[in-house]
Amino acid sequence: MTIFIGGAWPYANGSLHLGHIAALLPGDILARYYRQKGEKVLYVSGSDCNGTPISIRANQENTTIKAIADRYHDEFQQVFNKLGFSYDLYTRTDASHHHKSVQKIFLTLLENRYLYKKKIEQAYCEQDQQFLPDRFVEGICPNCGARARGDQCDSCSKILDPLELIDKRCKICGTAPIIKETEHFYFSFSKFEEKLKAYTANAEQEKLWRENAINLTKRYLAEGLPDRAVTRDLPNGVEVPVEGFEGKKIYVWIEAVAGYLTASMEWSKLNRENLSDWWNENTISYYIHGKDNIPFHTVIWPAILLGIKYSALPTHILSNEYLTLEKRKLSTSQNWAVWMPELLQKYDPDSIRYFLTVNAPENRDTDFSWREFIYSHNGELLGAFGNFVNRTLKFIEKSFEGEIPQAKTDEDIYRKTKDLYDEVGALVEVGHFKRALETFF
Ligand code: MF3
Ligand code: ZN
Repeated sequence: MTIFIGGAWPYANGSLHLGHIAALLPGDILARYYRQKGEKVLYVSGSDCNGTPISIRANQENTTIKAIADRYHDEFQQVFNKLGFSYDLYTRTDASHHHKSVQKIFLTLLENRYLYKKKIEQAYCEQDQQFLPDRFVEGICPNCGARARGDQCDSCSKILDPLELIDKRCKICGTAPIIKETEHFYFSFSKFEEKLKAYTANAEQEKLWRENAINLTKRYLAEGLPDRAVTRDLPNGVEVPVEGFEGKKIYVWIEAVAGYLTASMEWSKLNRENLSDWWNENTISYYIHGKDNIPFHTVIWPAILLGIKYSALPTHILSNEYLTLEKRKLSTSQNWAVWMPELLQKYDPDSIRYFLTVNAPENRDTDFSWREFIYSHNGELLGAFGNFVNRTLKFIEKSFEGEIPQAKTDEDIYRKTKDLYDEVGALVEVGHFKRALETFF
């Protein structure tokens, strides 16, 4: 049996904040837990260095995409290292191994007839002289009336086509975009509808996914899965490996999620392992991310895997709710966040990990406040747990000259301790980290 753990790939367009870590930490807890249990674990992730958030940032700062990606990828690595994240491989989506493997996956989908060409109309900004990436078209959501970006409505979660927005505006310059024809590849999501329905029903029955993932996926499936364009006119990203499509890129839907597989391929190569020993129908897999990434993991990724005839579909989906800061939503643009590089200068990684686990946004949004952080650290981690460890060590030092004596353990205590391992372990394996920690306490 092998355990695959995939942490979501953060965009390398700004520093990591506490919200990112709250969503990703469960992956590292699982990796450490299963390794200690003696299982074979492969835990991968990387920085998402493609796509518009980074090219826009580069524009704003008058520098190159690579300079931005390098800066934040390096910073991410430092943050993850300091926090003790034990990835087997943490890579990046602008690495050449990723580009090559994604192109192969794309060509396999094409060969298996899940991709087709289609001429479509897209938003084009005459002012900026470019086709606009989905999230750079802004307007009113046709479904709920809220202000929305062209990829997905944050307020009702509907996946949007930017052209559906009402009163469209270019995010870069604010003018109304025109509509222009261009040719793209479409992915036949509709061909997978029935299989995905059965797959989701099984996950629900076996309680393998968090409830938010089940509910949202069932909603998408009930609405029907339309085929969608999976290539874009973008400045950076993985080139579409087909004649006549020079300059066009494979969209994040296929490209970033495929990172789980491309990183596993790269890891196998570097470690002289057989990929099929790690990715097969017996593999138990955990996918860990924030709730805005649910469709990537429960619809798009399984459809791609089915399309390339891989049997290792995700088994466990752990989608986390959000962490708020003093009851307000974290926002990079409004600079309302606790930035990880700063937090790690002042506080011990274990204090941070403890708080984010005992107060994890597992089933609902939870709040970070400095007061609660300090209280949980001083009262629980230091006061209760630290004190218990300290007293035990002091006792061994004082009464037994610092050596643990050979003796028979009280049967009752031995059994209780052993049972506790089973009980806590069972909770960890189903993704209930908070309850695991409480039970242990
Ligand atoms: N970087 C993108 C995002 O944060 C894509 C994440 S897809 C995933 O939305 F597969 F990596 F999760
Ligand atoms: Zn909406």
